[in-house]
Amino acid sequence: MDMDAIIDALGGATQVQTLLGVGPSAVSNYRARGQFPEYARVRIWQALKARGVTVDPETLAFADKISTNDANTGQHSPHPKIIPKSPQILLIISGGIAAYKSLELIRRIKDKGWQVRCIMTASAEQFITPLSVSALSGETTYTQLFSLTDEAEMGHIRLAREADAIVVAPATANIMAKAAYGLADDLASTVLLASDAPLLMAPAMNPFMWAHPATQANQRQLHMRGVRFIGPDSGDMACGEDGAGRLADIPVIIDAIDRILPGQGALNGMTALVTSGPTHEPIDRVRYIANRSSGKQGHAIATALARQGAKVTLISGPVDIPPPAGVHVVAVETARQMHTAALAAMPADIAVCAAAVGDFSVADAANHKIKKTGDNDAPSLTLRQNPDILATIAAHQMRPRLVIGFAAETDDVINYATAKRLRKKADWILANDVGQNDKPVFGSEHNMVHLVTEYGVEPWPEMSKHDLADQLVKRIAKDLTAKEISV
Ligand code: CTP
Repeated sequence: MDMDAIIDALGGATQVQTLLGVGPSAVSNYRARGQFPEYARVRIWQALKARGVTVDPETLAFADKISTNDANTGQHSPHPKIIPKSPQILLIISGGIAAYKSLELIRRIKDKGWQVRCIMTASAEQFITPLSVSALSGETTYTQLFSLTDEAEMGHIRLAREADAIVVAPATANIMAKAAYGLADDLASTVLLASDAPLLMAPAMNPFMWAHPATQANQRQLHMRGVRFIGPDSGDMACGEDGAGRLADIPVIIDAIDRILPGQGALNGMTALVTSGPTHEPIDRVRYIANRSSGKQGHAIATALARQGAKVTLISGPVDIPPPAGVHVVAVETARQMHTAALAAMPADIAVCAAAVGDFSVADAANHKIKKTGDNDAPSLTLRQNPDILATIAAHQMRPRLVIGFAAETDDVINYATAKRLRKKADWILANDVGQNDKPVFGSEHNMVHLVTEYGVEPWPEMSKHDLADQLVKRIAKDLTAKEISV
């Protein structure tokens, strides 16, 4: 393991600190020891991969495509030269009548100059044969989880690890359900569970199956974890019914693959910090002051930013939702911890403060459980104000290019939000009304906001928190790159 070359390839020691959430002394220790701790290797391997550098994830030794010898001088160069390789796509074909269209997809993937390896589920084999898939991909087609030949040749973990992107096309209701629940009872579902490569699903199924609440819930769950979807389209179906369920057109799927490949997002090369969830402010060893935030909105924003290629640090208070894939999560409890972690994640290009940070903490939280001393006694708590994370970031010497906050208000929403934007020196504020009894925001799947900027107030329609995250990231990309992206 050439530590210096790896640290250089990652953009220097500060980037490594942010990536691993450690201080400068830890990185010096790794350098002195000549190795990274076990837990950090996958993260380093992923970050290198995103920069187009391939290393062996076990040993973090550079593969052939990175040269540490300068071609002109023959001297050892501390800055490794990166030779780009063509992306490796892992195509999972699941069983539906649209499976035959995956043959065309393989050809178009190869036309792009990408490499493609294929996995077929047992039901896909009812529609097309592994032989035709291999003939077009030019590679072995893998079908069995417990096949000695397949494991000897590749191994399912390597299949998962070596993919730059995984595409499931067609994606049946069954494979979506398995992926949503983390089942791993065949090669395709096991590989999906063993990989955190960008994942694109192109569903194709009977319109009733697609519209079924179970399939819709699975799609939402997967989308929340960062899985991208393309289609299904509407139209006449092979089953004779009409509605949404047709596999998206092959050129459209190719464009969507192009967008999920590492290095292709509109925010590629940018860093973002997102705060999310509630904070817990201890009263004593067993009690705390908290709020109703679920973290759903902040987590969805972190996911959407990462999907567009940003390197995201998500600083999350205690939540019951899974950490998004491809995002560096720093788990905190209190507002002060969140404040420290946010400053440690600077510099960043984008900051989104979506956390419902406790405004006050208990000045002298007891180190033991506070006991009752009489029938009518009640302790008094002295509160102190917590630091304002959003205001600190906005006033920071290394201020992110775009600082975005939320304003949860119960009345006079727009006026309070406008004043809050100015007071905290945020660029944008997403104002939401949390005072409507019939439309709770905390814990709900939906949100309705007004975007408050220096140019005015824009009402956004009610939408799911994921759609809102996508819309926000679209605006961020437009503001920072002048690029229009489709989400
Ligand atoms: N915020 C923060 N740190 C705090 C308090 C709030 O970063 N200590 C951020 C929130 O993440 C949000 C914005 O500031 O982006 C507004 O939060 P909100 O709770 O609406 O406002 P407060 O500052 O708490 O003001 P008030 O309670 O007076 O409405």
